[in-house]
Amino acid sequence: MSNQLSNLEAQLEALRHEGENAIAAADNLERLEELRVSYLGKKGQLSVLLGGMGKLPAEERPKIGAIANTVKEALQTGIEKQRHNLEAAKIQAQLESETIDVTMPGEYRPQGNIHPLNGIIDRTLDIFVGLGYTVAAGPEMESDYYNFEALNTPPDHPARDMQDTFYLSDGNLLRTHTSSVQIRYMEQEEPPIRVVAPGRVYRRDTVDATHSAVFHQIELLAVDEGLTFTDLKGTIKVFLNEMFGDLPIRFRASYFPFTEPSAEVDLQWNGRWLEVMGCGMVDPNVLKTVGYDPEVYTGFAAGFGVERFAMVLHQIDDIRRLYNSDLRFLRQFH
Ligand code: DAH
Repeated sequence: MSNQLSNLEAQLEALRHEGENAIAAADNLERLEELRVSYLGKKGQLSVLLGGMGKLPAEERPKIGAIANTVKEALQTGIEKQRHNLEAAKIQAQLESETIDVTMPGEYRPQGNIHPLNGIIDRTLDIFVGLGYTVAAGPEMESDYYNFEALNTPPDHPARDMQDTFYLSDGNLLRTHTSSVQIRYMEQEEPPIRVVAPGRVYRRDTVDATHSAVFHQIELLAVDEGLTFTDLKGTIKVFLNEMFGDLPIRFRASYFPFTEPSAEVDLQWNGRWLEVMGCGMVDPNVLKTVGYDPEVYTGFAAGFGVERFAMVLHQIDDIRRLYNSDLRFLRQFH
């Protein structure tokens, strides 16, 4: 055996030994790949060693080739084994980091509650939907026609003084009441009609404890053959009893351009009569305006302020509390 051969053989053995140790010590996949390139790559240490094979006598080359193959296989096997270990460890670590401890206490999330105004609106809609009514809405920017004229309130009508209106420069206005929805709804539908319409309304009021320039109303409208004032009274009574409890109510004669006769409804609350809503039989002129025959159909309507209901029900002394989003105030309403 030539010296060169035994020398090369020893070097191969040393390479295998060193390589196996380094591979077993690799603690991540990147490091392992570096080692693979360093030992087995095209320009790796094994190739470099085998470059020296050319100096061997021809008959010794197969021997060294065979040894080189076992070294190569040993390193490859070592790399595969280590890769497998590292991958398994990585998955294990991931599983451990993602473990959920189902016995841990939950994260506290404060629970919100319904704003008192939305509470009144929700309850009202529930009651009327229960009575077979449909919920409707209309635009807050209105034309003079829907807010006044079609509601039997022509331009020179004194009732226009009752409501100080925000007029817009284009001739439209911000609706002063949800009664405008009556007209829009009747234009679209044929009787029989049972509709409840909540929404925002606007008035040029000075803002104080009981007035706001923007507030909310809910409008009711029923049109059918043979509806009478008795139906109106019965409906209002059912509603107010549901909302406030079984308290005395009374109807007082009043005036609205779009109803005839008209009434105001008072509720006895803590021993005092409180005015809570306006109502009446739909004026025949209004029915004519939307193309209904007042000889065939009659209707009743009513409207009330949501803020007023909320203030009475919850004993709120200042309307502005309903708008300034103070959580200490709002958290009281469950
Ligand atoms: N629109 C009236 C207001 O803003 C309230 C009202 C009164 C509505 C009588 C009605 C009604 O539908 O019949 O003060």
